[in-house]
Amino acid sequence: MIKRYAFGNRFETDTVPVKPEISSGEIPFLTMDQEKLSLTMNLESDDCVYGLGENARGINKRGWIYRSCATDDGNHQEDIVQMYSAHNFLVVNGSVRFGLFVDYPGVVTFDVGYTELNTLSIQLSDLNADFYFITGESVLDIVHQFRQLIGRSYIPPRWAMGFGQSRWGYVNEADVRNVVKRYRELNIPLDSVYLDIDYMDHYKDFTVDPERFPSFSAFVEEMKTQGIHLVPIIDAAVKSEKGYSVCDEGLEKGYFCTKEDGTVFEGAVWPGLSLFPDVLNEEARRWFGDQYKVLLDQGIEGFWNDMNEPAIFYTEDQLESTLEQVSAYQGKKLDLEAFWAMMGLFHGAIHSPDTYSRFYHNVNGRQICHETVHNLYGYNMTRAAGEAFERLSPEKRVLLFSRSSCIGMHRYGGTWMGDNCSWWSHILLNLKMLPSLNMCGFLYTGADIGGFGRNTTEDLVLRWLELGIFTPLMRNHSARLTREQEAYQFTDTDGFRHVISMRYVLLPYIYSEFVKAALRDEMMYRPLAFDYPADDRARGVEDQLMLGDGMMIAPVYVQNAVGRMVYLPETMKLYRFHKDGTTDETVLEAGDHYVSAALSEVILFVRPNHMIPVSDGGHCEREVDFNDIHFLSFPNGKPSVYEYYTDDGVTRNITEDAVIRYRMEVDGSIARMD
Ligand code: GLC
Repeated sequence: MIKRYAFGNRFETDTVPVKPEISSGEIPFLTMDQEKLSLTMNLESDDCVYGLGENARGINKRGWIYRSCATDDGNHQEDIVQMYSAHNFLVVNGSVRFGLFVDYPGVVTFDVGYTELNTLSIQLSDLNADFYFITGESVLDIVHQFRQLIGRSYIPPRWAMGFGQSRWGYVNEADVRNVVKRYRELNIPLDSVYLDIDYMDHYKDFTVDPERFPSFSAFVEEMKTQGIHLVPIIDAAVKSEKGYSVCDEGLEKGYFCTKEDGTVFEGAVWPGLSLFPDVLNEEARRWFGDQYKVLLDQGIEGFWNDMNEPAIFYTEDQLESTLEQVSAYQGKKLDLEAFWAMMGLFHGAIHSPDTYSRFYHNVNGRQICHETVHNLYGYNMTRAAGEAFERLSPEKRVLLFSRSSCIGMHRYGGTWMGDNCSWWSHILLNLKMLPSLNMCGFLYTGADIGGFGRNTTEDLVLRWLELGIFTPLMRNHSARLTREQEAYQFTDTDGFRHVISMRYVLLPYIYSEFVKAALRDEMMYRPLAFDYPADDRARGVEDQLMLGDGMMIAPVYVQNAVGRMVYLPETMKLYRFHKDGTTDETVLEAGDHYVSAALSEVILFVRPNHMIPVSDGGHCEREVDFNDIHFLSFPNGKPSVYEYYTDDGVTRNITEDAVIRYRMEVDGSIARMD
């Protein structure tokens, strides 16, 4: 059951499409302090708190503090408190069980036992908010109700579940051709190459550099004949430059954010001084979305939206004031304290949160300070694109994912987990974020495989791919100046080919489970605790996940490990796919097992009386025959049914009608039912 509690003068976030009636009275279990703008409750030591989408730390969020305040900070250390997105939904499960969604566009802090070990405290910046309180039979039931409330998750075209190669550093046609050539020569599957900011003319959105890509549409077509989709990046801010049509037109129509006095607001991002499309304003949003047409018309079928927290490196005002303050130190003999204070001035000038109080939106004629609606920006930039694609590409799905988001955006696009690092701990962080994001509606997601920042190693990329083959977005991406990490840069070519090819073998299952999760408002990735609520051991497992109907995954994320401990809540069948193409199957009893997994081996587990549809693979998605499937299976005493969703992978018409049922008999034989 869902109850809505409303306070103050709320800003319409458009997160919940159909709102329930407002309930009176107090929110159960939570104590509201109107003066402190907070909600608190005592937790029992065994209570778990799940959710909060993209964030650091565990699947169980207890023991840390999290801030919903979209931030461009690529340093995902263990002690960060905020990331690129704001996902204000959590579930408390233990002595009491409920879900809470804080529908609020400003900064919220979730202190889940950080200040006081056994206290959950939620702090808002003001009390203009809607709270949705959800009770249910289980955590999964609560999540399901929440997902129904917020609307169906975005479904990309199926090719976007193929493997993609990206790097901030491919600057021209020759670079891209080379990537494709190397992959194709080595017979390593590939579906897309991502274009980072260098494809643009001086980082100007919706332009293509005429020298680096002299005939862009022909190039897009050339790539398509090789089964490759090019996916360009779009940044939130628009270069401030006279004569650049997007800038001129936006200025003329008043579609950019302004300062308090109504003059246009400028901040520096990749193109230098830039303007911020007022995507919270409906007319401006439509206009910004229409800009994507110029690339759609050249054959592009997918985009990644970036820098939309929005990231602002500095403003001229801030820089000036910083320089003024720094100049006060000139000629003075500095002690250490003064030196650090001076250095702090420079650090403070970059990505200063204070910037967000200095610009404004125009929403239905009302001037709204950005700070109060900060977390809605990435959502509305992506919504601009998503809404435009419904107009501009009514038949075909368009790939779209964003760095910043809040709940609501899940209807328009996916999200990637931002600028991670080539660290082993980030494989695990990638895994832990999957169920939390699913809870909040984000199904199409994945991390920069191999790590974005810092130098990677061959074994790290391989191990990361062994998780990546299971994530809907499977993209290898890295920052410029870091070690190159395409599969062909390393020695174990057979290993890379094997692991990446496994994605294409598993694609019928991954796609089927993804679409069903979207259609049915369910989680594709679940912690063991959600599927085995009566199993106390399962509650503590944070490095394995249930994937879809019948699979469990347990990737290796430790360097030089040749296997790992795996906890089985029930008997399961282990499938091991060796590099030489052979497969072995072992039934393991419930309990703890050491499972070996050589560097380029793929392991997965099948639940009893379940089947996993697989294909013979292919070099790209269009080579995979989704109608010619066979099954990995674990018959174990009971007949069972698998619901297989398959379609053309392209059109927007996605319904349960496309589900085909297969039945497995006790003897393991499988036949199509209808
Ligand atoms: C941001 C993005 C990253 C991209 C870079 C350059 O850091 O998160 O993915 O490569 O900008 O555009």
